[in-house]
Amino acid sequence: MATFETIAQGMILVRIAASRVARAAQPGQFVQRRGHVIEGLVSDDGRAQTTPFDPQPYPILSVDTASGEIAVLAVTDGGDDSAITSTPTGLEWAVRGPLGKAVTVDPAARHVAFIAQGGGIGSLIAVMRETAERGVRVTLLAGAENAWQLYPSHLLPEGVREMTATDDGSAGIRAPVTHLLPQIQDEADVLIASGPPKLYADLARMRADGLLTIPTTVLVLPQLECRDGQCGACAVQTADGSRFACVEGPAFDLDEVEWS
Ligand code: FES
Repeated sequence: MATFETIAQGMILVRIAASRVARAAQPGQFVQRRGHVIEGLVSDDGRAQTTPFDPQPYPILSVDTASGEIAVLAVTDGGDDSAITSTPTGLEWAVRGPLGKAVTVDPAARHVAFIAQGGGIGSLIAVMRETAERGVRVTLLAGAENAWQLYPSHLLPEGVREMTATDDGSAGIRAPVTHLLPQIQDEADVLIASGPPKLYADLARMRADGLLTIPTTVLVLPQLECRDGQCGACAVQTADGSRFACVEGPAFDLDEVEWS
């Protein structure tokens, strides 16, 4: 069973009964939605046929171990919300996970900056919550096309200071979110980023130009197939060869990834 709440333009909060995932999940991990049984379609040997796994990884925002419920973020980017929210008979939200490794933050860091573009913020929510709950100062730099595509401030974990940037200036500064970095870089010990490839390309360019000087982790969540390191669909190219985001990710050091 699942319930749905549209929390911003192109962002749907999905709450799912998944007690095993709720018990095991760590900050930064994600799930994959299972295929559903196709009504009336059986194989020659009588087994029910299902649709394929949804290749989209869904970051876990929060868990409630008492109720066995997890909340994940589905990003539609202006696409068809019904692919997320329609649950006719036999098409419920069942998930596999948690997938990936927990995202860990340097325990010596006293001020952690996070930077997100659009729906990339989903991978940061649980990590920010865990970091803030340890008494560490947390600053979020949030970017989006406009104010309506920003993750709602009132849903951010307690203790997170937010700075925003939008393409049209409807919230925060009118500029790419990376333009906020100079304001916090002297104070923050580390940076954790989540967003589209362009964000990572911009950060890599800033690093090469000497404009980004603090240790930076990027969270990579590509589309999945096998989910167990076998197929290479989620490969991230690094100086040491391919690494698979489904089992080794989502966190990679900005400097070890080969951005092409
Ligand atoms: S999805 Fe197949 S290796 Fe990651």
